[in-house]
Amino acid sequence: MTAKFSVRALAALAIWAIPEAAASVLPATRPPRVGFTDTVTSHVIPMARHDVPGSHDIHLRRRATNVSTSLTNVHDVYYIIDLLVGKEIIPVSIDTGSSDTWMKPDCGLGEGLKGELSGGIVPNVSFGRQYADGTFVEGYFGFEDVTVGGLTAKRQRLGIVNNTYWQGDGRVSGLLGLAYPYMTSLDGPYETQPLYDPVFTTLWKEKLISPMFSIALSRHVDQSPTQSPVDPSLETSYLALGGLPPVSYDEDSWARTPIQDMSTLKAWGITTKEHGLYILTAEAYVYGNANGTFTVTGEGLSRNVSQFPVTIDAGATLTYMPTILAKKLYASFDPPAELIAYGLYYAKCNAKVPQFGVQFGGKIFWMAPEDLLRQSARDPTKEWCRVGVTDSDSIDPILGVTFLNSVVAVFDVEHHEMRFASRTKY
Ligand SMILES: *[C@@H]1O[C@H](CO)[C@@H](O)[C@H](O)[C@H]1NC(C)=O
Ligand SMILES: *[C@@H]1O[C@H](CO)[C@@H](O)[C@H](O)[C@H]1NC(C)=O
Ligand SMILES: *[C@@H]1O[C@H](CO)[C@@H](O)[C@H](O)[C@H]1NC(C)=O
Ligand SMILES: *[C@@H]1O[C@H](CO)[C@@H](O)[C@H](O)[C@H]1NC(C)=O
Ligand SMILES: *[C@@H]1O[C@H](CO)[C@@H](O)[C@H](O)[C@H]1NC(C)=O
Repeated sequence: MTAKFSVRALAALAIWAIPEAAASVLPATRPPRVGFTDTVTSHVIPMARHDVPGSHDIHLRRRATNVSTSLTNVHDVYYIIDLLVGKEIIPVSIDTGSSDTWMKPDCGLGEGLKGELSGGIVPNVSFGRQYADGTFVEGYFGFEDVTVGGLTAKRQRLGIVNNTYWQGDGRVSGLLGLAYPYMTSLDGPYETQPLYDPVFTTLWKEKLISPMFSIALSRHVDQSPTQSPVDPSLETSYLALGGLPPVSYDEDSWARTPIQDMSTLKAWGITTKEHGLYILTAEAYVYGNANGTFTVTGEGLSRNVSQFPVTIDAGATLTYMPTILAKKLYASFDPPAELIAYGLYYAKCNAKVPQFGVQFGGKIFWMAPEDLLRQSARDPTKEWCRVGVTDSDSIDPILGVTFLNSVVAVFDVEHHEMRFASRTKY
């Protein structure tokens, strides 16, 4: 879908249904485009999107010690990138919800790492990470050169995994964690390990790129030059280091919003003002039945302006919203979406899909109908399709792949700011 909409439509929306607090953040006229100097980078890496039907939710965000999680959701999408580790090409999935880069020698997760690490291993320090669904990896740390997008992080610290509960399916051998260094400290019983620089941090500190990266996650499966045949009419997914990916987007839709520090996630019990994850606060969530059309007129739409932290997580397939909000969205499907099993919301595959948008920096970023009702994720009867937003009272709200498929997302760690633009329809 295209999220392009006119200023007049926005104004109409503002007048029609918005509480004063929210109306004030909507621009009456188009704001001047200042401060967006992002340009397309040559350090752009195509990614393959891989869909795993019916697997468990390998929701990749780092688990907080004392937050219990019991997700049995279906995680079925990840984005694969090739890393050159020493002399070996290792396919890994990307994650903006954690910071370690790790890989596992052999064991059903793709090719795996075979050789020795040129930089040796870190003595007496074990590596262990648990992710929000109970999957875990364990092993040790070592050093090796890691090349990605033509850039080499020399003597990069990596996790080498020798024990895991991980839903490998032969395509990937590990993970590229793209969050801040802080997240690497959350290890051991006291979660106070010394920090180290993740791959992306190493690259910008070595001044190989400016301190930002961006992603364009596409809905189409396996579109990458390393896959053949490539259908040029389908969109490729990209990770772009130091600039923007080469996809089309609506120039007028750029918006910026600050990245919040870790103390914002109250349930984690962390008080530090350090940045760790890409935590944002949306100005509003816009949802409701707009008669199945995707022109914003405001008709049938409601706004929820409560402010809660939401994490941008490319390692999560779905978008997780507070239950109250999610239920209102489910009710806006026609016929309404239903709870099939714990945490699993489905609607009839031919249901009329409502609108759902998230507002940052005065702009609304609409989730595409294909992501709100996922035709490729069906129940065994094939009549019910999975809703791309789930309720999340057990974990903090997340904007996952179902949201990211409609935007270019810029992660600017120099200014602790994220920028978004709406992708043009693809
Ligand atoms: C690692 O642990 C072993 C056994 O406790 C110890 O003998 C050795 O000195 C330690 N090495 C380092 C570098 O700390
Ligand atoms: C994994 O690596 C750790 C750290 O080197 C070691 O203590 C452990 O025995 C290894 N486990 C296996 C199964 O090889
Ligand atoms: C988590 O642990 C911290 C530190 O022990 C504590 O302050 C906080 O209340 C705990 N949070 C929950 C949700 O139990
Ligand atoms: C469009 O939606 C509005 C608000 O839900 C409703 O009042 C109206 O009847 C709908 N129109 C059509 C044609 O469905
Ligand atoms: C908006 O969402 C928040 C968070 O779920 C909820 O607490 C609040 O009740 C909602 N407000 C309305 C008007 O739906």
